[in-house]
Amino acid sequence: MDGLNIIGLGKAVPQKAFTNDDFSEFLETSDEWISTRTGIKTRRLCNINDYKSDENQLELAIIAAKEALKDSEIEADKIGICIVATATPTYAFPSTACLVARELGLNEDCMAFDLSAACSGFIYGLSVCKDMLSQRSRDTYALVVGAEEFSKILDFTDRSTCVLFGDGAGAAVVKLKEDDVYASIAHTRGDDKCLVCGGVANDKKLYMDGSAVYRFAIGAIEEVLKELVEKSKYSLEKIDHIVCHQANKRIINHVIRSTKQPEDKFFMNLDHYGNTSAASVPLALKEMQEKGELVAGDKAYLVGFGAGLTWGGILVSYR
Ligand code: ACO
Repeated sequence: MDGLNIIGLGKAVPQKAFTNDDFSEFLETSDEWISTRTGIKTRRLCNINDYKSDENQLELAIIAAKEALKDSEIEADKIGICIVATATPTYAFPSTACLVARELGLNEDCMAFDLSAACSGFIYGLSVCKDMLSQRSRDTYALVVGAEEFSKILDFTDRSTCVLFGDGAGAAVVKLKEDDVYASIAHTRGDDKCLVCGGVANDKKLYMDGSAVYRFAIGAIEEVLKELVEKSKYSLEKIDHIVCHQANKRIINHVIRSTKQPEDKFFMNLDHYGNTSAASVPLALKEMQEKGELVAGDKAYLVGFGAGLTWGGILVSYR
């Protein structure tokens, strides 16, 4: 059977990091509250109050995608599918994916489009490109990017949401590879109450019922991991890494306890990036690679959950 193999990874984050103490200068909050409730210490942002950098979601997507392509060591004309998962595109149209394709010099017969599934976007994107690749010739590759600029939809007077998110982008070059195991899961439940944003153009900011999302997230990760194991017959004991959407350290710690898996199987980087939505899983994978924690032959379950509500998971191998 065909599995999905990651052969290149890239990342990009805004230059400037903002600490929890930076937020307590203009909000009634503290490093103690944010660290203990979420695990977040700093996050990179393009915009906050009067600070507006020249960086944006599109630029981050391009930098991450270029790095992933270079890391993959394949030529740009081998990429036949380019998907950018995002809830915060720089333009309503053209899609970020079309401009990434142009900047990377991808062929005009490459299909490029944005995908909207909030924090599950990168997982959805991998699943979609896996199905699309199976219709193409064996030497076709796909580029999947998660890129977000949540700082433009955050209400910096709302302490219950604005401290949680960061901006960033992560990218992966993938191809089909003969494997014994593969599974992907994607779920949706329409909900416009607990996690909603009225739209960048309307200047409507993000609203979140944190407790409701917290309960949903724990159930979603546990359900997806169970389904991935059932479908792939590849146990959690055998898998090398479980990379969850980086929303809250307490959510991931809960899953570590409930699955009884070793802590080092669950990479976490939300302490320095916060929740970067669709970018969080590829950002984590790139950092794992840089730290030497992701090595050739590894298998990982990737799990996402977020607005929609959406949740899903996929089994990938690395090189
Ligand atoms: N600083 C200080 N106090 C705060 C802050 C803050 N930054 N934010 C909220 N509080 C206060 C609240 O006002 C409340 O005060 P009150 O008791 O006087 O009313 C108190 O802290 C407790 O608030 P809770 O919401 O109950 O705090 P909780 O322990 O649930 O933690 C949190 C909140 C961190 C948001 C948590 O619910 C959470 O992580 N939820 C999941 C979020 C998530 O996973 N999102 C991912 C999806 S995002 C996407 O898809 C776009």
